[in-house]
Amino acid sequence: MEVFGKPLLRTALAEAAKLGRSTGPYKTIKYLPTPRLLPVPLQPTVHLRSLHSSLSVMSTLDKFQADLAGTWLGHRGTAAFDLRSDIMTTPTPAMLFAVQQTTFLDDVYQEDTTTLDLEAHVASLTGKEDALFVLSGTMGNQVSLRTLLTQPPHVPSNGVYLTLEDIKSKVVLGDDVHSCPTRVISLENTLDGLITPLDEIRKISGFARENDIRMHCDGARLWEVVASGAGSLHDYCQYFDTVSLCFSKGLGAPVGSIVVGSKPLIKQARWVRKAIGGGLHKSGIVTAAARVAVDVTFGKGPNGEGGLLRDTHATAKRVEKMWTDLGGKVLVPVQTNMIWLDLKSLNSSTPRFIELAKEAGLKVNGQRIITHYQIGEETIQRLGGVFEKMAAEKGTGNLDGNHGEVERRGIYGNNS
Ligand SMILES: Cc1ncc(COP(=O)(O)O)c(C=O)c1O
Repeated sequence: MEVFGKPLLRTALAEAAKLGRSTGPYKTIKYLPTPRLLPVPLQPTVHLRSLHSSLSVMSTLDKFQADLAGTWLGHRGTAAFDLRSDIMTTPTPAMLFAVQQTTFLDDVYQEDTTTLDLEAHVASLTGKEDALFVLSGTMGNQVSLRTLLTQPPHVPSNGVYLTLEDIKSKVVLGDDVHSCPTRVISLENTLDGLITPLDEIRKISGFARENDIRMHCDGARLWEVVASGAGSLHDYCQYFDTVSLCFSKGLGAPVGSIVVGSKPLIKQARWVRKAIGGGLHKSGIVTAAARVAVDVTFGKGPNGEGGLLRDTHATAKRVEKMWTDLGGKVLVPVQTNMIWLDLKSLNSSTPRFIELAKEAGLKVNGQRIITHYQIGEETIQRLGGVFEKMAAEKGTGNLDGNHGEVERRGIYGNNS
């Protein structure tokens, strides 16, 4: 069975070979989606044609196929030169194809097999009993926290990750009616691209359990933690009652997140999701693409086996090296797919960096750069050119010292 027609697959593989990338992950696409999800026999060319005919901007099937390949493997899509965030990733041909093949059953009645299958798969990847598809990372956290309960964000004192000591300094214990006892500890991982180590989480979780406090993880980018080699999804998820994981950041699906937890908690979460308007009827439209994102971008097993994320970390390391080789400094270590440039270290500024990047056809937000799997070699070369210009400008006196820097801050909110 093939998901792509042969010409498209050939284009995709040739493209990957040209870029010097491993073609292994792309070949695995041939086996997606699983027959269990498909009510009708696969006829790829026919399906590509029917999708093609609904898109008036495409003039020929060939162009359609080339464009599909170009939005992904060739790294020529709209995300290719966008270093602002991994939320910029665009759906792949495999995802669009999976959407065409999806089931159209009702998820409020829990009948949509594509969605049920995705939930069961991610529950198993994370070592949890159950899972619940939600529309966004925010909804995942809201549903989880309303399922468990809530308090404001706190900043790590070591500048990297929250420790048990940080938590102890904030937590409210006891049942005094005049106080507001802590019911849930919520940790974001990665936080600004930085990993909270397993050992610290184990300590915090032990403390929480001793004090009858529930644990939630904003794991929008927990996939990145795993891809960095810091532990498996099972390793991390075991210390939390609920974990929310995003499909639409580094994994590249167009929409959606998932909450995993015990069966009773997910049953409760289903109520909360419905109460905040998240009951989807034809959910297969979004869960089909999310499944491709998990299998192909993250990988097939709980350690991200065969996935594409590791390459994005290597790219982040390359970007860091390009910067530091020119004398630049980073604000925090590069551990996953984020690089925090200390722009002042090259006497530059956020507006100047944005301006130079724009001239090079790149989109950046400022001091934070996020790499994702649709960033290609050309993007890195262009970014290197921008860094060189910044280094050359250092000491020219063109900058007035008012650098308009923003502080590094939690990714939630302005910096998504
Ligand atoms: C760590 C983290 N959690 C949650 C969210 C919110 O996700 P969404 O935009 O899907 O609501 C973001 C957004 O980027 C995020 O970075």
